Amino acid sequence: MAEVLVDFRSDTLTRPSPAMREAMATAEVGDDVFDEDPTLHELQAEVAARFGHEAALFAPSGTMANQIALQLAVPRGEELLCDAAAHVVTDEIGAAAALGGVSTRTWPSAAADLDPATVADMIRPDGFVAVPTRAVAVEQTHNRLGGAVIPLPTLQALRAVTTDAGVHLHCDGARIWHAHVADGVPLDVYGRLFDSLSVCLSKGLGAPVGSLIVGSAERIAAARKLRKRLGGGMRQAGILAAAGLYALRNNIPRLAEDHDRARRLAEAMAPAGVVDPARIRTNIVPLDLSGTSIDGPAFAAAAREQGILVSVLGRRLVRLVTHMDQTDEGIDHAVKVLPAVLG
Ligand SMILES: Cc1ncc(COP(=O)(O)O)c(C=O)c1O
Repeated sequence: MAEVLVDFRSDTLTRPSPAMREAMATAEVGDDVFDEDPTLHELQAEVAARFGHEAALFAPSGTMANQIALQLAVPRGEELLCDAAAHVVTDEIGAAAALGGVSTRTWPSAAADLDPATVADMIRPDGFVAVPTRAVAVEQTHNRLGGAVIPLPTLQALRAVTTDAGVHLHCDGARIWHAHVADGVPLDVYGRLFDSLSVCLSKGLGAPVGSLIVGSAERIAAARKLRKRLGGGMRQAGILAAAGLYALRNNIPRLAEDHDRARRLAEAMAPAGVVDPARIRTNIVPLDLSGTSIDGPAFAAAAREQGILVSVLGRRLVRLVTHMDQTDEGIDHAVKVLPAVLG
């Protein structure tokens, strides 16, 4: 088996840098269940301010951050609308239904082409029988849709639709930093559009752990209680918050490099008809192998022989994700050998 030269499976694979570890080692800490961790306070205040909201709460994972926000917005037995490939409904082990009693209805996935009028038509008012719609969730950028960025005017139109209907608007912003870098939209402009966001420090920004729920002071106070109920109350988590602060302050602008590398990979694979480079805006490159003679597992195995790790998402779908722990040499190697793997 060849030595691993480059790992494209996920941008969660990054390891804390020496400078980040130094920040963690020297962090001031306290017990966060007592709400006494000064470094967490600093992180939460900084994230809230960056998104133009009153408050934020640290959570151990993106899944917990999303599910807390959604459970607060949707009473049991009532409804969340999102797209069919949204992480909140597809990749969180059924948490919305299993833990929150949330009923979900989806529109067909097409993040960049999301149609607010379709969502408006789906919203159901309260009544005697029908399940009332309480929240709409979008994903920015969209993981399963190849890191697609929802354009700002679309989000603004969706905000108008949800405001008119009196429905909560949530953003799964695990990679909202990538959208901010790709489209140049300030984080607070995104932030003010949503009633709640979840944002992640360990997907592309290089921190080892942590997401935050962002919203009003009242919502975040409720989120703190629900986090505790779910077992997410942490003690000296300032060690993790220090890594998060380091990530926020140092690792956002460099995402442009990950986006350029993703585009380079897509351009190298495009002649095989597996990806349209024009659709690659951020750090995720999905390869649709349906027009080739190789399937996902065989592609991944052949890439592995060349020291390259990729994720298999379906029989004919693989995914490459760029991140800060990759090197120019690794990318050069992939650009050289992966097109040959496709034959
Ligand atoms: C868009 C999106 N949202 C939420 C999550 C969940 O994050 P976690 O793995 O920290 O629970 C992920 C994880 O990859 C994701 O890609």
